[in-house]
Amino acid sequence: MEKQINKEKLPTHIAIIMDGNGRWAKEKGQSRLFGHKAGVDTLKNILRCAGNIGIKYLTVYAFSTENWSRPQDEVSGLMDIFLVALKSEIKELHESDVKITIIGDIQKFSQSVQKGINDAIELTKNNNGIVFNVALNYGGRWDIINAVINIAEDYKQNKINKTDITEMLFSSYLSTKNIPDPELIIRTSGEQRLSGFLLYESVYSELYFTDIYWPAFSENDFYEAIIAYQNRERRLGKISEQLPNN
Ligand code: FPP
Repeated sequence: MEKQINKEKLPTHIAIIMDGNGRWAKEKGQSRLFGHKAGVDTLKNILRCAGNIGIKYLTVYAFSTENWSRPQDEVSGLMDIFLVALKSEIKELHESDVKITIIGDIQKFSQSVQKGINDAIELTKNNNGIVFNVALNYGGRWDIINAVINIAEDYKQNKINKTDITEMLFSSYLSTKNIPDPELIIRTSGEQRLSGFLLYESVYSELYFTDIYWPAFSENDFYEAIIAYQNRERRLGKISEQLPNN
């Protein structure tokens, strides 16, 4: 499957909504946390694959602003999983030249989780390999509202004028300011919505939905998503005849 990928037409940035951990576990008669742990294994595999084929940015939705309303033991279990995964993987990620970045408001997390995250960001900040961007306590509306607040503040302080407020300036106030918009967004588990993931950044993203639950999502499934993306015609508002290959 990997051989069918056109290396000249790779998306620069792929974003993934890793969904279906709970249902996958339930089908196996296991706990939801068992599903999340298996989800971490899938993530390691897909991150490695993405780096190997030359994807420059991989963003994953690990915890949404709505996920706080899950049962308390699931939320705290997920926090433990993040922390354990960070601690056990960080060395290898760093050696593989992965640069870790975060989008979302991590101030709501415990001190130990925040420290784990900040240490990982600091350690890998000068790496030049794939940027592994993790959305934690992230929501697209939260990000947009935050941007509006900061723009209003800068306007009030005369740092910007009304006419400065363009799409590009707005992007620079989002948490994704250093990352290009994703060309491809994948959601697993059969749900067909974005749930506020990269709300502003996804206007021209190709959306790929698969019924496969995240823990069962394989390298080949990932390649298949990229091949599907490559077979789509990305007109970006133009007509077919205006595109370079026509
Ligand atoms: C969605 O499945 C998954 C999550 C809310 C958590 C995803 C987190 C991981 C895979 C761990 C990531 C780890 C690191 C270190 C970034 P779900 O629980 O919504 O599944 P369901 O829809 O079947 O219930």
